[in-house]
Amino acid sequence: MHTHQKLLSPLVTPSITFKNRVVMAPMSRRRAEQAIPSASAPLYYGQRASAGLIIAENSAVAPNGVGYLNAPGIYNAPQKAAWKKVVDEVHARDGKIFVQLVHTGRIGHALNHEGHLPLVGASSLKAADIIRTPNNEHHPMPEPEVLTTEGAAALVDAHIQASIAAMDLGFDGVEIHGAHGFLPAQFLHPATNQRTDRYGGSIANRSRFLLDIMEGVTAAIGKEHTGVRLSPFVGINDLPTYPEETATHLYLTTALQQLGIFYIHLSGMPVNGVSTISADYLREVRQRFKQLLIVAGGYTADSGEALLQAGLADMIAYGKPFIANPDLVEKFRHHTPLAVADPGIFYEGGDTGYIDFPIIHPQPEINTVAINS
Ligand SMILES: Cc1cc2nc3c(=O)[nH]c(=O)nc-3n(C[C@H](O)[C@H](O)[C@H](O)COP(=O)(O)O)c2cc1C
Repeated sequence: MHTHQKLLSPLVTPSITFKNRVVMAPMSRRRAEQAIPSASAPLYYGQRASAGLIIAENSAVAPNGVGYLNAPGIYNAPQKAAWKKVVDEVHARDGKIFVQLVHTGRIGHALNHEGHLPLVGASSLKAADIIRTPNNEHHPMPEPEVLTTEGAAALVDAHIQASIAAMDLGFDGVEIHGAHGFLPAQFLHPATNQRTDRYGGSIANRSRFLLDIMEGVTAAIGKEHTGVRLSPFVGINDLPTYPEETATHLYLTTALQQLGIFYIHLSGMPVNGVSTISADYLREVRQRFKQLLIVAGGYTADSGEALLQAGLADMIAYGKPFIANPDLVEKFRHHTPLAVADPGIFYEGGDTGYIDFPIIHPQPEINTVAINS
């Protein structure tokens, strides 16, 4: 039986001490009506506060960047007030919490946006997929309006303003969503970026939108509070892999090292048992980037521990295992078999499949803290 010694041991950084190296990966649970985190969100996140770090689900920086039905935002006062309750609850339970900031760009539907604002994108190429909209309808994703140079710069600023708001609410930091085919990834990708302005063309220009965000956020809230999520080689949201992908991501990695951000979070996916993020790629990133490296995508306690022991990551992020196992860290510690969540409750179900999973190993304070939502 393995001990998972490193995974469960604290990680001390100059700015934050994490009680273990288990990260709760950002997971959109789409229970935020009118893009406001639900009254159950503080309990949901509080139940999972034994993670070394929680990264709260992707939260839109602007009303035209919500994309998915009932995904939360962090751009207006009711949303911020709801997020504050989440932050306070996690901190009351001795947890650390960042929030993932997103603009979904061409992924989404105007019907899911406040005021039915149209989709915007780096270029007009639409995503070939359907999306759920109110009344359980499903529609093809429409063609996005092309952002002007000034429009793109305004959305860079929206990320900066959201990061300032997040810090004001008490979040320990923010993670910029540069992954999974959302707006910054649409700028990175040559298929969705057919621009001829300073945001299009060369690797440096395609990287500029994301790097402008990272630079602005770092300047506004401090590099020790700023992380980014990237997903090279994963090819989701109708963005296939492309020839310059490695070169683009290694360029980004070097630039992120120059900015000195707190972490890079690589989102991988196991394909036939092999992660899209290879050990060789992790070594390339390690050579260029000296701050924290978080890796996600299909990890168990054993495979996460092995990656840490190999020196290829500093923390391991777990997604689906956290849905049905609020006490995931303690289950790892006690070698308790994990519950498996029904994917049917991932994105719907209200409190069912959200805050009702049994906690086998309570933290001392869990179940005793009053939830005043
Ligand atoms: C229900 C659900 C929602 C997700 N939402 C997000 C999200 O908001 N942002 C993000 O970057 N990744 C999201 N992901 C991906 C996870 O963060 C994670 O990378 C993925 O589940 C792989 O890790 P796992 O094998 O441990 O589940 C989501 C995954 C699931 C299952």
